[in-house]
Amino acid sequence: MGNPLKTKLLPLNQQSIQQAADILRQGGLVAMPTETVYGLAANAFDPIAVGAIFTAKGRPQDNPLIVHIAEVEDLPLVARDIPPAAKKLAREFWPGPLTMVLPRVDAIPLEVSAGLDTVGVRLPAHTGARQLIRAAGVPLAAPSANLSGSPSPTTARHVYNDLRGRIPLVLDGGNSLVGVESTVVSLVGEPTVLRPGFVTREELEEVLQQPVALASSLDKPLEEGCKPASPGMKYKHYAPKAEITIVEGSLPAFTAYVAEQKEIILRDDPSLQLAVLCFEGEAAEMPVTAVCYGRFNDASSQAAALFTALRSLDDLGAHIVFARSPAQGGVGMAVRNRLLRAAAFREIIL
Ligand code: TXA
Ligand code: MG
Repeated sequence: MGNPLKTKLLPLNQQSIQQAADILRQGGLVAMPTETVYGLAANAFDPIAVGAIFTAKGRPQDNPLIVHIAEVEDLPLVARDIPPAAKKLAREFWPGPLTMVLPRVDAIPLEVSAGLDTVGVRLPAHTGARQLIRAAGVPLAAPSANLSGSPSPTTARHVYNDLRGRIPLVLDGGNSLVGVESTVVSLVGEPTVLRPGFVTREELEEVLQQPVALASSLDKPLEEGCKPASPGMKYKHYAPKAEITIVEGSLPAFTAYVAEQKEIILRDDPSLQLAVLCFEGEAAEMPVTAVCYGRFNDASSQAAALFTALRSLDDLGAHIVFARSPAQGGVGMAVRNRLLRAAAFREIIL
């Protein structure tokens, strides 16, 4: 990269949206709030601007970007041969945390789709994001606004910490309320969830009145040489510096296990920092430093808190972390998917 840019962090308002729209029209990058996580936006029709996203994030070139639109009527600007299923899902879940993979129009450059014939499209619910897309006058390609490999940002401060010096502007639109990235569903061929999110498989099946498949690589490491349906799924994501292990079991069993591990680990190397990821109200019982991620058995609250909790572990300098297992089913599937990746698939059942 060249000289570091001066990065402005501005509260989202009419004036900052206009500044941001000017930057985007001139081929620059802007970090914007959405209801899922913050996105790093560029004009989706401008291959050079889109290329700059990959540089700023340090993102592998073969991982395609999601294109964001402000109105359903704009879908034909980016996708073609739109099946009835897409229209049904748009009616039910847009604006909102659902990305649909559809056949791509030629105007979408290969830089966005990483050479695929398809494009992922989303109409976000965050009003600031929609105002920015309208003001820019073009669809915006935007991956999560973190450095590649870090947890996705759910506050403007997370973005600023990761991308300071690499982008000109971060718009602060408050905490991302959903907290995990959108559900990605492919509608090319049989409907298939490529990435679980806040919109659950059950909800998709209910609206489509047909079965929705799950991509086979979702909750296990990708086998050597295997091609994922969603290229992003092959990368180790959301990873804090600590080594995390998910520990499935009751609260007393978890606490006893951590106490036992603490003895063994610290006997070997007393300089190691141990921590747990647990639920609200459990911290006092823990034998090591505790970071909470939501409430027990409440997947939405766990989703909202997870990425901030992962960043806190880094701030604490934790080396070894034991995590309580997320809620089962529904949105819990998304939380588990992200936590498994943060844990590099390490999991034990007590
Ligand atoms: O909630 C979200 O989706 C956030 C906000 C900013 O909208 N964006 C986001 O983007 O999470 P990103 O780039 O971090 O993740 C995009 C995911 C990746 O796993 C990528 O492989 C997949 O979507 N994806 C994008 N386009 C695709 C396509 N044409 N076919 C298959 N997978 C696609
Ligand atoms: Mg991402």
